[in-house]
Amino acid sequence: MSESTNSIKHVASPLARQTLLDGDLTRPVAGVRPIRLLPWLQVVKIGGRSIMDRGRDAILPIVDELRKLLPEHRLLILTGAGIRARHLYGVGLDLGLPVGSLAPLAASEAGQNGHILASLLAPEGVSYVEHPTISSQLAIHLSAARAVVGSAFPPYHHHEFPTSRIPPHRADTGAFLLADALGAAGLTIVEDVDGVYTSDPHGPGGEKAQLIRETSAADLVEFEGTLPVDRALPEVMANARHIERVQIVNGLVPGRLTAALRGDHVGTIIRTGARPL
Ligand SMILES: Nc1ncnc2c1ncn2[C@@H]1O[C@H](COP(=O)(O)OP(=O)(O)O)[C@@H](O)[C@H]1O
Ligand SMILES: [Mg+2]
Repeated sequence: MSESTNSIKHVASPLARQTLLDGDLTRPVAGVRPIRLLPWLQVVKIGGRSIMDRGRDAILPIVDELRKLLPEHRLLILTGAGIRARHLYGVGLDLGLPVGSLAPLAASEAGQNGHILASLLAPEGVSYVEHPTISSQLAIHLSAARAVVGSAFPPYHHHEFPTSRIPPHRADTGAFLLADALGAAGLTIVEDVDGVYTSDPHGPGGEKAQLIRETSAADLVEFEGTLPVDRALPEVMANARHIERVQIVNGLVPGRLTAALRGDHVGTIIRTGARPL
């Protein structure tokens, strides 16, 4: 052995001698629950199609409600994409663009909606922040202001999974991934319906649709009809580390978001795979 090798200091690492693929070996090290980075944070996802696309009639009452919530909660408000992303998908798919090219285009609309919302809340000190700021400087921003706005779209962009031609990881999934990674107190998804119904209440035969007040991510993975959230959301929720439930509420009914943030059951509650300690 050379002298230089002898002088290298040994660095102890519990995973140094193992394959990372063997769950029995990694579990003692990686199986513990991560810490909650921002345990006081409430994450609110505002729908692109359901709220933002409706313009002032839907947006201004929500902005008013968010403004009144600020003294009570510290918020990360995340916006989704709506009609403009759908148009982009249509044009892009017609031209044969791959899913990895469509994802960042749709994500840019989610960001545009965030800029609109942040502008309306600017007098309250709220501003739009980009993803790198959310991941590394959210704490300082939320020390300076009661809320910030960001894009709910996850930045898979050109790495988007090619499981379908339309990006499978959209705003609901992105909002959930962030809320869980931050160890937030909760995630509320704001839609234009009271929650998840047995079938699309706005579709054919919608008058027969019944509201499902409580369900689980596992049941939604098996749900055969359409959903008001990304299909990838219940799959991701199954592996949640912190967020135990997500509530979907109707943002067109004043007071529902406020009630949900106070812990009231006013929409559909979806239980995740996370278990209380
Ligand atoms: N099972 C279901 N329960 C409730 N709403 C549903 C269901 N299936 C489809 N929808 C539709 O989803 C719509 C919300 O659309 P969505 O694309 O999720 O909007 P957003 O982009 O704002 O999230 C509702 O208005 C409703 O018509
Ligand atoms: Mg939705």
